[in-house]
Amino acid sequence: MNKEVVLSGIRPTGFLHLGNYFGAMRNYVRMQDEYNCYFFVANWHSLTTHPDTKALHAAVNRVIAENVACGLDPEKVAFYVQSDVPEIAELYLYLNMLAYKGELEKTATFKDKVRLQPENVNAGLLTYPVLQAADILIHRAVKVPVGKDQEQHLEMARNFAQRFNHRYGTVFPEPYAFNYGGELVKILSLDGNGKMSKSENQLNTIYLADSDELIRKKIMKAKTDQGPLETNSVKPEYIDNLFTLLKLVSQPDVVKNFEDDFNASSEGNCIIRYGDFKKQLAEDMIQFVAPIREKAIAIESDKVLLAKIIKTGAEKARVSAAATLSEVRNAIGLVY
Ligand code: TYM
Repeated sequence: MNKEVVLSGIRPTGFLHLGNYFGAMRNYVRMQDEYNCYFFVANWHSLTTHPDTKALHAAVNRVIAENVACGLDPEKVAFYVQSDVPEIAELYLYLNMLAYKGELEKTATFKDKVRLQPENVNAGLLTYPVLQAADILIHRAVKVPVGKDQEQHLEMARNFAQRFNHRYGTVFPEPYAFNYGGELVKILSLDGNGKMSKSENQLNTIYLADSDELIRKKIMKAKTDQGPLETNSVKPEYIDNLFTLLKLVSQPDVVKNFEDDFNASSEGNCIIRYGDFKKQLAEDMIQFVAPIREKAIAIESDKVLLAKIIKTGAEKARVSAAATLSEVRNAIGLVY
């Protein structure tokens, strides 16, 4: 039986963080044994924000090294750089004819970028979701492991696939966002203001490259409050986020103790001690991040290995991409 096709990508716009790991990469590592997987570094997408050329080159290598350090096996999957697969750009062109200005302007990520960089609202930014759809559809992927912030882009990819199929005959399956356990993940920043991010609010984001000391410092100043005012309170979002992180990196009995302390606390009888909670979280986080950080440093400095991964990945990806593109050209009638 043919395995289902999985695809996902990460933009090389900075250091990878816990959001990237728990929203996306953790799933990649699990999916690589069960599915036919394509993972890639979205360097074309990052051109929308005009990065420094040298920095972009280094960031691509780092994203590759960090993914491999997290357990992604380039032998099991196709792991490639987007710009090495020109077939994606051709599919992007066709899909652009089926994407409308109105819907693109309404996309949440586009509106965010217009706010953040009003001096650089380029056409690539507007058609970002179309390029993302091309990334997915070029391998006819059905499962796309991503964090919650990508849900709207996936919905748009389904729309573009449907429109294509309707107009030219069925070529594409419909892709869906995926997370083991169902709910898509959103890791908030440690000050509770928005999500962890590669480029914004860096002092409140934990990066896979952070030193032990920096992790301690960031977690110890994470936002907390005076504690629950009633027993079995609903946790405020920023406290819930700390518990989410604890669940991700600590032993179940440790989590249970803090959950029990939280639930037993009330105004004037606060049993949970956020200072102790954060100390525990920091140490467990260090246990989790340090081995990834050290592995990534070693891989990043092995330029021969990186070049081999990139070359093999592109070769694998282009086989699948060329096969889809040939069907696409046939469907549109671009065969002379
Ligand atoms: P990017 O590079 O911003 O993020 C990479 C992955 O990490 C997830 N993520 C998060 N998950 C939970 N909490 C967070 N705080 C958090 N921050 C990031 C993202 O959801 C994503 O899965 N447009 C994409 C890149 C892309 C892509 C694709 C993804 C291009 N083409 C095709 C899937 C399929 C992006 O900017 O991800």
